[in-house]
Amino acid sequence: MSLRLSLALDAGGCALPDEGRIAVFAPRAGLDLSALPKDRVLILQPLRPDFESFEAAGFACLPELADLPETERFAAAVVFLPRAKAEARMLVAQAESITAGPVLVDGAKTDGIDSVLKNLRKCTDTSAPLSKAHGKIFWFQGGNNRLSDWIPEPGVSVDGFITAPGVFSADGIDPASKLLAGCLPEKLGRRVADLGAGWGYLAAQILQRTGVEHLHLVEADHVALGCARHNVADVRAEFHWADARKWQAPEQINTVVMNPPFHAGRSAEPELGQAFISAAANMLVASGHLWMVANRHLPYETLLGERFSAVSEVAGDNRFKVLHAQRPRRAKG
Ligand SMILES: C[S@@+](CC[C@H](N)C(=O)[O-])C[C@H]1O[C@@H](n2cnc3c(N)ncnc32)[C@H](O)[C@@H]1O
Repeated sequence: MSLRLSLALDAGGCALPDEGRIAVFAPRAGLDLSALPKDRVLILQPLRPDFESFEAAGFACLPELADLPETERFAAAVVFLPRAKAEARMLVAQAESITAGPVLVDGAKTDGIDSVLKNLRKCTDTSAPLSKAHGKIFWFQGGNNRLSDWIPEPGVSVDGFITAPGVFSADGIDPASKLLAGCLPEKLGRRVADLGAGWGYLAAQILQRTGVEHLHLVEADHVALGCARHNVADVRAEFHWADARKWQAPEQINTVVMNPPFHAGRSAEPELGQAFISAAANMLVASGHLWMVANRHLPYETLLGERFSAVSEVAGDNRFKVLHAQRPRRAKG
């Protein structure tokens, strides 16, 4: 339950206009939005599993603001602060620019709510913050375009690639992915999938290998996938905004390459990477290969041994390990 949102609307003195749509930025799955009139809410959520969860609960959803008609103005907005500072600033500024009424900003202390409040106070009239559950909520009047310098120029280029605030490894090539790319063999087979493709670094390396005819980039973050479309401009690439754990490959795959996620939000969840391993085993041909990189401490070898006939560590250091698994086995049960 979003306790702070209820607090602001019920007792805190923030009045929602009686009519007009309410834009809700970046709520995570499971957040209770019952304090808002559902039929007036538009969820803006680029992460596919979270998007699907709100869609299944009957909310209108869009992955990104860019998908809205430019003229649409909202009666109110709520921003649930993401952890990345540049993304948080961008979402608050976007909310301000499309909203005629109040913009509520909610965040945990660990997500930098105090710093956003401090910076907003320099340019807007913010309400007094309400504190609850290790976080704060406050609001200010939108619609004056006072925060346009909080929105970065589109397509920030890093190491020759386009990235965006909040996407994985937005500041440059991830060292683990670089290690994996250096270990990939010259031949990967004709049909390859990159699970959790991000902004496309590994995909770009895969397409440099000989014989690749078709590469599926599967990524849950709509924003990252948009960057990948730009970074991997190649007719052999196909882009899928999807949860890799559930994605059904349209053809059998010869090789999966991946640097899987192991965090859902703040907490480490190795089950996420393990689900990627199972998904990879299920989509591969009988002679297929999996190449993956992981943080050294993550417990992947047991499952790899269950789901593949041969597994080896081909490279690594004290931080990362590159694992190669061959010939998937059928899942038990
Ligand atoms: C460790 S990053 C690797 C990104 C990219 N391959 C690279 O090497 O730079 C993992 C990626 O998985 C994505 N991701 C997280 N959960 C996902 C899911 N359920 N399905 C698909 N992608 C997911 C994240 O958004 C992130 O881009």
